[in-house]
Amino acid sequence: MRRKLVSANWKMNGSRAANAAWLAEFDGRDLACDVVVCAPYVYLPQVIEGLRGGETGAQNLSAEAPGAFTGEIAGEMLLDLGCRWAIVGHSERRAFYGESNDVIAAKAARAIGLGLRPIVCVGETLAEREAGRTQAVIDAQLDAVLARCTPTQLLAGAVAYEPVWAIGTGKTASPAQVQEVHAAIRARLARVNGAAAAQLRLLYGGSVKPANAFELFTQPDVDGGLIGGASLQARDFRAICETACEAAR
Ligand code: 13P
Repeated sequence: MRRKLVSANWKMNGSRAANAAWLAEFDGRDLACDVVVCAPYVYLPQVIEGLRGGETGAQNLSAEAPGAFTGEIAGEMLLDLGCRWAIVGHSERRAFYGESNDVIAAKAARAIGLGLRPIVCVGETLAEREAGRTQAVIDAQLDAVLARCTPTQLLAGAVAYEPVWAIGTGKTASPAQVQEVHAAIRARLARVNGAAAAQLRLLYGGSVKPANAFELFTQPDVDGGLIGGASLQARDFRAICETACEAAR
């Protein structure tokens, strides 16, 4: 049985005051699921210090070792702070910052090499889905990662399926659509290592809310969620975490 994992992705949101209020309200110590909060780099120390019942993640990391890369953040620095996780290949990194499948795979490999747990994001755009290319796009994203990391290494982290058309749009993929893609992701990984594929946690992200979380998290291959907008409210994030625990029963 895979333990559910729910991760907040605050994206480029927050302030010291808003984060303090969130951390004062959220308490995940009694939850029977794993909780990660991915905050903007500059707020990681505040979250690491104040988070009760969960681990902290970054939203990105450099593919490079420390050195002359102005403006970048190395995985070593994240670990030095006490940060345990990092999102890799979020669709916003792919779309707005030109991160290729290969760069993302290099970041995932670097995170794993350092002992930082990657949440590797994959997902298709609306145009790709409408063209019937969903699986081909996701396979290419996964294969790039599998060229550098084994499924066993990925077990330290998770893979998140985030259809681009469902992110921040209020359009959630249907539970059946999500299950179909998750099963295909697991099957792809199983071609390399069936035992590891069976254990790897696959998260869904894209307009997850307290009201729709249960039907998503009860799909057989959905092991939790990566939550954007709804994670900005501690109460909603807590409700989604509780739903993940309930779905695991
Ligand atoms: P929303 O939950 O705001 O749709 O964002 C999903 C996401 O991108 C999480 O990484």
